[in-house]
Amino acid sequence: MSEAPLTVDVHLTPADLRDALKDDVATGLRHRPRSIPPLWFYDERGSRLFEEITRLPEYYPTRAERRLLAEAAGRIAAIARADTLVELGAGACDKTRLLLQAMHAQAPLRRYVPLDVSEEFLRAAAAGLVAEFGALEVHAVIGDFQRHLDRIPFGGRRLIAFLGGTIGNLVPAQRARFLFDLNCTMAGTDHLLLGADLLKDPERILRAYDDAAGITAAFNRNVLHVINRELGASFDVERFEHIARWDDQQHWIEMRLRSTVDQTVIIEDLGMEIRFAEGEEILTEISAKFTFEQLQSELEAAGFVVDETWGAAEGEFLLTLAHPYC
Ligand code: SAH
Ligand code: AVI
Repeated sequence: MSEAPLTVDVHLTPADLRDALKDDVATGLRHRPRSIPPLWFYDERGSRLFEEITRLPEYYPTRAERRLLAEAAGRIAAIARADTLVELGAGACDKTRLLLQAMHAQAPLRRYVPLDVSEEFLRAAAAGLVAEFGALEVHAVIGDFQRHLDRIPFGGRRLIAFLGGTIGNLVPAQRARFLFDLNCTMAGTDHLLLGADLLKDPERILRAYDDAAGITAAFNRNVLHVINRELGASFDVERFEHIARWDDQQHWIEMRLRSTVDQTVIIEDLGMEIRFAEGEEILTEISAKFTFEQLQSELEAAGFVVDETWGAAEGEFLLTLAHPYC
């Protein structure tokens, strides 16, 4: 059987990425608290480290979401009746297979559209799917889901999946903006499948973000390797320790990098010299944990009607299927 072609649209070239990184680092490291947005974890090495995280005994979200998808994929496919699966922040496109198989069993499946910032990693994952699902057209998009939603190919009935709990890596204002913008790009026949981590015992959450093998620490520090390589910076990565901290007010876990000594870092391409005092921190990620009610109301506020949810009773992770209210 001849394979359908793999198309790759690049809306973020390596040069665009470098420019965006420059802006984010210049702004984020000048302000207090110092911060770097989490999308910069995911170069090839960072994407592989995230894959390792998903297999750690302490990191429950991926396993919980996979269990829910295995149980609900048939019902999701029956409600959405989609011929196109779009996946935002697709990564290794791994859990996707459960959805593709269920959709394929219900109706002719035409297209899979994974979108991610991590180009090499997405190209490899997309090529794997082309080989696996012979007749499926794979149309990969290299882009930022906070900037390029309007570049996602339109047409057909689309199921737009945003899995893994990545929605929780956006702060509330970014989440509201993202959900509203996404809603505006959707046709009345499209559906959104959202995976989000639920609020639970903070000790369990903390263990998931501070594993015994130190893989999350390596993932967190990877952002400094990325800045060293891309912007000619001099971060001594071993002099920043990984911190995971639960914020009981905001209901999110924060990952930070804490300077273990007084030190000065040069970022050549920005002409910046930054002094870090011992103990000074850089915020690198928040990962929000939701209640069922909070998610419903955020989706409704962005113009979605919820069709069905899975996982609320188990209290681990929540899958929500919704469509635009119009
Ligand atoms: N969906 C997968 C991967 C989650 S990891 C899963 O559930 O396992 C988060 C993924 O989102 C990574 O592949 C990362 O490269 C991508 N990502 C993070 N921020 C992004 C952004 N702003 N735009 C596009 N992709 C992004
Ligand atoms: C991709 N995202 C949902 C992960 C999370 O759990 O917030 C990223 C991650 N950070 C540390 N471990 C995993």
